[in-house]
Amino acid sequence: MSAKLLDGKGISKEIQKETKVKVEQFIADHGQPPVLAAVLVGDDPASQVYVRNKERACARAGIESQLHRLPATSTTEDILAKVIELNETPKVNGILVQLPLPEQADSRVILDAIDPQKDVDAFHPHNVGLISQGRPQFLPCTPHGIVQMLKRCGLETTGKSVCVIGRSDIVGKPMAMMLGQKNSNLGPEMANATVTLCHSRTQNLASIAQQADILIAAIGRPNFVTPDMIKPGAVVVDVGINRTDQGLVGDVDFDSGKEVAGFITPVPGGVGPLTVTMLLENTLMAAMIQSKPIV
Ligand code: GUN
Repeated sequence: MSAKLLDGKGISKEIQKETKVKVEQFIADHGQPPVLAAVLVGDDPASQVYVRNKERACARAGIESQLHRLPATSTTEDILAKVIELNETPKVNGILVQLPLPEQADSRVILDAIDPQKDVDAFHPHNVGLISQGRPQFLPCTPHGIVQMLKRCGLETTGKSVCVIGRSDIVGKPMAMMLGQKNSNLGPEMANATVTLCHSRTQNLASIAQQADILIAAIGRPNFVTPDMIKPGAVVVDVGINRTDQGLVGDVDFDSGKEVAGFITPVPGGVGPLTVTMLLENTLMAAMIQSKPIV
């Protein structure tokens, strides 16, 4: 058996076209585009690529983007000063501090300082709390992109057993929360899953994963998921982007995994493009929230 490819790149293009139309309407209604401000600290090569991709995607969608570069030696206070300045700039609708930050900077303090109404990553405790209560304002970009992809491929999650490998604040934890809810922004058929969240201390991880109808690998270890961990016919979503001597590699051993899975995302061209795409949607959403009249 050979799995069907889940074409994240193609689905991203489709969503970006829809976003562009909504952005044009926003500009017609408000006379100005949504604005995203990205803060890039230091010169981590991967972060530079991610930020460049975000800038290009913004330009395609008609969203204005600003890049605020700070030196690698910046302190928590230096970065906080920039975040506060952006919070207080009415024109800026969305703020994104690219992670990881240099070691000397306290990421928690910095992310907590972002105005929750401008928190397009949905990392602020206010937004995380709303997600956990099933009434999100913003959804984190990667998990949201995954739900969009499943929906658009006709793969419902309701009643399904889902295994998420990795408990990061960016992907694993919010993904597990979102799929276990009663409802989602895409309807109850894209929630209502029975979710198991596995991590580095999980015992019998392979046998837990092997029972999942939908397996989401977000652990950041190259080729971690081997065919014995995949239920025949399962949907396998690979969030990993690992730079190795062999080039970019996912968390799933793709060549052998595709022989067992029913559906599988490639790396690159799977989940990655969707993350950028959902950031555009969140920026538009932030602009809409901020342009509402205060009553
Ligand atoms: N670094 C890796 N992924 C992300 C993300 O989704 N948002 C931010 N801000 N930084 C990241």
